[in-house]
Amino acid sequence: MQIRVRSGGHDYEGLSYISRNPNFVIIDMANLRSISIDTNENTAWVHVGATLGQLYYTISQESRTLAFPGGVCPTVGVGGHFTGGGYGMISRKHGLAVDNIIDAKMINANGEILDRESMGDDLFWAIRGGGGTSFGIVLAFKVKLVVVPETVTVFNVSRTLEQNATQLVHKWQYIFDKIDENLQVRLHLRSVRSPRDGKRTIQVFFVSLFQGRVHDLLPLMQEKFPELGLVEQDCTEMSWIESTLFIAELRDEPLEVLLNRTAQNTPHFKAKSDYVRRPIPEHGLRGIWRFLNQEVENQAELQFSPYGGVLSTFSESETPFPHRSGNIFIIHYLVMWDRATEAERHVDWIRRLYSYMAPYASKSPRAAYFNYRDLDIGMNNEGNTSYKQASAWGFKYFNNNFNRLVRVKTEVDPSNFFRNEQSIPPLSSW
Ligand code: FDA
Repeated sequence: MQIRVRSGGHDYEGLSYISRNPNFVIIDMANLRSISIDTNENTAWVHVGATLGQLYYTISQESRTLAFPGGVCPTVGVGGHFTGGGYGMISRKHGLAVDNIIDAKMINANGEILDRESMGDDLFWAIRGGGGTSFGIVLAFKVKLVVVPETVTVFNVSRTLEQNATQLVHKWQYIFDKIDENLQVRLHLRSVRSPRDGKRTIQVFFVSLFQGRVHDLLPLMQEKFPELGLVEQDCTEMSWIESTLFIAELRDEPLEVLLNRTAQNTPHFKAKSDYVRRPIPEHGLRGIWRFLNQEVENQAELQFSPYGGVLSTFSESETPFPHRSGNIFIIHYLVMWDRATEAERHVDWIRRLYSYMAPYASKSPRAAYFNYRDLDIGMNNEGNTSYKQASAWGFKYFNNNFNRLVRVKTEVDPSNFFRNEQSIPPLSSW
């Protein structure tokens, strides 16, 4: 039987709870979700069934100046997120979730419970970004907490094409991977209907978290990106925990909403990712606008999230997550729809957009983010995978780290007990 391990259930292709093989069991970690914080050594043990929101909330009950650099959606589970990378709004300053893991407990294929010492360096390396599912079931992670200022500043301002959105996005690409690592400005690109004439236009949202006060943010923005015209009224000072609500678009909710485990009513969706190493020219952006205008209003979005900062200081092989120096930003493509019968049209749209983007994306391999799982880039055959077959997607997610992941898998799970459509194959499974 196949085993599917589910922590928060947010896998983009549902691999934690569905399988083509009818003989499978789901091990649901949802009830294994306690968190213990140690404010003397600024660490936490977090069980995998906890959500990011629960982790952030629990930290905030202990301290206003401790935080964790994980993703922005509070209902994402620790188990999948931490084993695949984990990028959020303070990652340019503090790294990914995987960069802050210092110990773990897991069950291997022989049913033994291991910690960092007993699992050894290779396996501990593999589960910090190489996906947990290939190697066993992670039970808990010990993480370093990071220090943030008591007050941070956020803004979310938008500009349409008529307000120079194309030129702003073009310039953004030259600045925000190099800017002060306390500042993270992420873009959300959508097609909307103009309130003026009802015609479709592109609206770009500049969503930002600055680890500092507004009087330090404004001169920085004025110096590096005056074209945006950011003013004090656009900005709000708050604590880091309040900023997690702001960024997750839960601004008016009480903090306790972070404890809610159920994602907002998510319709059907398909997502993909790309890394960008050279700025996309303006004519390339105009092509993206054409694609966005073809989709149903507000149901398709591209997110551009900046890299650089501390993310570039890690070598490509330090963790299995290889997308470090040289990457300006990641693109997250998303399309949503309401009725299952509409799937084909929307999936076709996102695939066409992805192929249009090929000249602007990283090459050899065209890299992808493991946590934005995409079975289009390749998958294993049920029960009969091979190194060659898995190489199709493996090098895209992990670059040369894929080979080390295969070696670790061969050593710790040679019979391929833990497997799914994109699990690392052992070398014997030809
Ligand atoms: P789920 O339980 O579905 O697990 C995902 C994968 O990990 C599955 O293959 C599963 O088997 C395996 N797994 C889970 N628990 C395991 C365990 N204990 N041991 C071994 N294997 C295990 N990412 C990001 O970096 N930044 C972000 O801001 C966001 N935001 C975001 C928003 C929304 C709405 C979604 C749906 C997703 C994101 N993500 C994200 C992507 C997210 O990081 C990714 O989907 C994670 O894998 C989800 O982890 P879950 O535990 O929720 O998923």
